Amino acid sequence: SDYGTDGHRHFMHKEIAEQPDAVRRVLKGRLDERFQTVRLGGLEMDAREMREFRRVKILGCGSAYYAGQAGAQFIEELARIPADAEPASEFRYRNPVIEKDTLYVAVSQSGETYDTLVAVQELKRKGGRVIGLVNAVGSSIARECDGGVYLHAGPEVAVASTKALTNMMVGFALLGLHLGRIRDVSPADGRRLLQALTALPEQIETILADEEQLAAVAKTLAQAPSLFFVGRTRGFPVAREGAQKFKEISYRHAEAYQTSELKHGPLALVGPDLPTVAIVPDDELLDRNLGALQEITARSGPLVVVTHDGVDLGVTSAHVVAVPKSEPELDPLLLTIPLQLLAYHAALLLGHDVDKPRNLAKSVTVE
Ligand code: G6P
Repeated sequence: SDYGTDGHRHFMHKEIAEQPDAVRRVLKGRLDERFQTVRLGGLEMDAREMREFRRVKILGCGSAYYAGQAGAQFIEELARIPADAEPASEFRYRNPVIEKDTLYVAVSQSGETYDTLVAVQELKRKGGRVIGLVNAVGSSIARECDGGVYLHAGPEVAVASTKALTNMMVGFALLGLHLGRIRDVSPADGRRLLQALTALPEQIETILADEEQLAAVAKTLAQAPSLFFVGRTRGFPVAREGAQKFKEISYRHAEAYQTSELKHGPLALVGPDLPTVAIVPDDELLDRNLGALQEITARSGPLVVVTHDGVDLGVTSAHVVAVPKSEPELDPLLLTIPLQLLAYHAALLLGHDVDKPRNLAKSVTVE
């Protein structure tokens, strides 16, 4: 294929840089300004059918599963429908109860991940309704599903998913808003979220422009044998994805925790040799998160704080990475972007094959 790195040193770097355009593509033609909602033509279900669902269950593997966790939160917050995510690799083996008022969503970049495909087939065999959030058009998972939302991120080559993952999150936000507007989300709230979605590409550009600073922060993290990534509620899927990305390509041990759980165990490890990357959105939990930062600095734990512009952290020793504010429900999207560059630059410094980490495949199409 003629898909090259276009002057970038790695596919991963190219794909990170492509995100503003990738997000423009997943939004294109889908924002309905007149009714302050979104148009998802591929769903093959009308509003009446969509209203019948009482629960949403999201299935995917690896980064797609973490995007699904963020997606479950979007859907629960925007549409007030209980939603959760589970690794498809577990779901397919545990004889799950399939309910007819549950909307199942399979999420996959390649559309060929065997565990996700088999989970979809098992669901269909038992009469479940399953839609796909898939990047690769015409792929096996896309064909098995009862319609869905194509992600239009374009081809992704680096094993560590970046633009596809971002578009998964946008896809879930679209689905959440769609489900919300046929339930209780008001036109005014719909407008607020449409504006937030429209603003994303430029906000991502702003974050990417800070690459040099992120590379400097990565340098402080690359030498640590082990790291924590912490976040709570909306920040937790961000922390999980950040830890996953970091360990995949830097081969450093990185573990994600809910910030609220630090005091219930992991704090025992915090000290000068164990850096923490803390996700601290400017939201209703800010004060609680700031309290946790103090717990970490009191134990001389090095800190990198990924937060929003204008937040006063009250700690001076931290490396601060600030991203533009979105609407609270959509915060996870932008908070994830700097973590890609932290992982990328750490792996680069350590001399690893960024695009093809050892032991991993881009798409796991076997049992
Ligand atoms: C593999 C890759 C991961 C990816 C996962 C799901 O494990 O190494 O980077 O997130 O598969 O892939 P999918 O194509 O289904 O999104």
